[in-house]
Amino acid sequence: MRTIDWAEGAIELIDQTRLPDECVVLRIDDVDTLIDAIQRLAVRGAPALGVAGALGVALIAARAPAPGSGAGGPPASGTREAEARIADIQRLRAARPTAVNLAWGVDQAAACLPGGPEAVLRAALRVRDDDIAACVAMGERGADLLQREAGPRPLRIMTVCNTGGLAAVERGTALGVVQTLHERGGLAEVLALETRPLLQGARLTTWELARMGAAHRLVADSAGPYLLSRGGVDAVLIGADRIAANGDTANKIGSYALALGARRAGVPFLVVAPETTIDQATPSGEHIEIEDRGPGEIVAIRGTRVAPEGTQALNPAFDVTPHDLITAIITDKRVIRPT
Ligand code: MRU
Repeated sequence: MRTIDWAEGAIELIDQTRLPDECVVLRIDDVDTLIDAIQRLAVRGAPALGVAGALGVALIAARAPAPGSGAGGPPASGTREAEARIADIQRLRAARPTAVNLAWGVDQAAACLPGGPEAVLRAALRVRDDDIAACVAMGERGADLLQREAGPRPLRIMTVCNTGGLAAVERGTALGVVQTLHERGGLAEVLALETRPLLQGARLTTWELARMGAAHRLVADSAGPYLLSRGGVDAVLIGADRIAANGDTANKIGSYALALGARRAGVPFLVVAPETTIDQATPSGEHIEIEDRGPGEIVAIRGTRVAPEGTQALNPAFDVTPHDLITAIITDKRVIRPT
């Protein structure tokens, strides 16, 4: 089943806030509901956000023209309707700031607006299909690299957040590599970090690994660097929300601590992401906007308050791993060694 798709004039997506308890598919046919779904992480993960952005523009482009504004076709520029479309596209583009794929997906589809709704939809479906192909390619390339460098024995992989099919369309990025290893019989075990505050590792990665039939254990985020220091982990695999031109990589908060732990322990630290996550317009990590999701997710866990009333909190959703801590970046086209 696809995480996100287009079906009869609307976007269908798995509501990831309800996993692992129930698998509910949302049908979304207006941009406000889509923006809300993106912001509350019903759809999440950089590649899936790219597809959501592109399909969201298709929704906007397909909107029926306002009465009296002429029949069909894109609204003439300068009209109130054309301006409303542009405003909606900009709101969608900015719904989450760190993952460059969202803005990229929006831009791919928006570039086709002059061609009318069918052209926009074709472009959006191309973003979806390219993501599916890219994830297959990353899985193969990543598994090849690991098996070449670590040898044929089954590997133990550590990962953070969710980078599986739920973060893309069908297969994932870092977890796509894990899936390919597993299919080749080359996976011993995955150590999945739970990923506070929203628990994408505990809720989503374990759900996907169980469905794959892949051996895994869940570990607290703060146990990651210690477990690396004890030996027995062959590689850390993470995804990326934005890779700056120099290789600095923004990904889920906790990635940087893992990279430091991996360097100290001599464990390869691999980033797996499609080429579309590389942002040549951002020279280095300090220029990447890091989403702050506010204190609510820190002082409470799944709606249950864990800190005293009135506690202040900081909630950066992502961190930046400097390129010199990254062993390799595996994309759908190549392996980049940032150092
Ligand atoms: O806040 P999220 O759940 O959207 O964060 C997702 C991540 O950090 C992923 O690691 C990243 O988007 C790569 S997904 C293949």
